[in-house]
Amino acid sequence: MKIGSLDLESNLFLSPLAGYTNLPFRLTAKSLGGLGLVTTDLVNARSLLEGRAVAYKMIATDVREQPMAVQLFGGVAEEMRDAAVICQERGAQSVDINMGCPVKKVVKTGSGSSMMKNHEKTQELVKGMIDAVDIPVTAKMRLGWDSDNITAPELARALEDVGVSAIFIHGRTRAQGFSGGVDLEGIRKVKEAVSSVPVIGNGDVTSPEAARIMFERTGCDGVSIGRGAFYNPWIFRQTVHYLDTGELLPDPTFEERVELMRVHLERMIDFYGELKGCIQFRKVAVWYAKRFGPSKFFKDKAIRLESMAHFEEIMSEYIEWRRRFCDDSGELLEKYRPVDPYSSITDKVSVDAAEKIKVPKGPVSNW
Ligand SMILES: Cc1cc2nc3c(=O)[nH]c(=O)nc-3n(C[C@H](O)[C@H](O)[C@H](O)COP(=O)(O)O)c2cc1C
Repeated sequence: MKIGSLDLESNLFLSPLAGYTNLPFRLTAKSLGGLGLVTTDLVNARSLLEGRAVAYKMIATDVREQPMAVQLFGGVAEEMRDAAVICQERGAQSVDINMGCPVKKVVKTGSGSSMMKNHEKTQELVKGMIDAVDIPVTAKMRLGWDSDNITAPELARALEDVGVSAIFIHGRTRAQGFSGGVDLEGIRKVKEAVSSVPVIGNGDVTSPEAARIMFERTGCDGVSIGRGAFYNPWIFRQTVHYLDTGELLPDPTFEERVELMRVHLERMIDFYGELKGCIQFRKVAVWYAKRFGPSKFFKDKAIRLESMAHFEEIMSEYIEWRRRFCDDSGELLEKYRPVDPYSSITDKVSVDAAEKIKVPKGPVSNW
């Protein structure tokens, strides 16, 4: 698959998840195979121009994760243009524009999902960025502001006209937040509205089968996975294999999950320092534990994680505690196994696993 001039290993993408898709996680997911393009959390364009260290840390990259895209947000065309140049200079292979974020403090700056309201202004901003850099510029949007304003098909076409290299489309409106199921028909309409720019479908894909359904029902060129990649970092490799062969790979073992978690934590510590890396990893540890079977003992301790040595101590105590739920060979007894996310899927995209992952709640206007 190609995004502009970029040749990708697969047509599967890691969606930006603010607070999660940092370099350590991107490297970890990428190392498992099957992932075509990773994306950073959303980065404030103005913070880059002001030279803020936090923003530069967010765009830091490593050849082992590349190609990588930086996702920018901002409502001022000149700032977005100059920030795109910085991203290119700092080694990004692509720049993505956030047009979907429903959070109040982003929307009120004229960026995020408010960009879906004024197509001419958005088109001009995007053109300014495209003209300023050699790397591809892509846009990530929702279906529209609300169900009365489904503007994504028209906006996608307008952006194709100015030379955007791909459209990422999350199949919900801004007003929906994360509620309800993803609207595959809505994504299909975006695909049908454009002539040749690749359209990447996104939303609620938590298994290889769900990815297949997304491709089949929408005609999209690629699939982007956010929460499903945290729930199961192997999802990209498993999906490539499933799409190629029709066969579902066996799920990783408990030991493999623990090992991946250890490597991920080591990377967090290398990148952020021991205490900060551990503090940020606390919420991530809880995600890994969703697939451990009974894990209350682990989670209660992991939310106070302070060091690598502490992790090893918690893990060995947990492994001891967990034995009571296992048979003689160390396998989790059937009744304690986490619900297989594959099993709930027949002919619809499963939202079961996605719903278990925390998202902002309440009216979107309060976020
Ligand atoms: C915690 C969290 C953080 C997110 N951060 C971003 C972000 O920084 N930029 C963005 O475009 N979308 C962001 N999203 C939306 C996701 O990229 C994605 O569009 C959405 O979660 C649907 O895909 P999924 O069901 O595969 O997670 C975020 C979603 C969540 C749950």
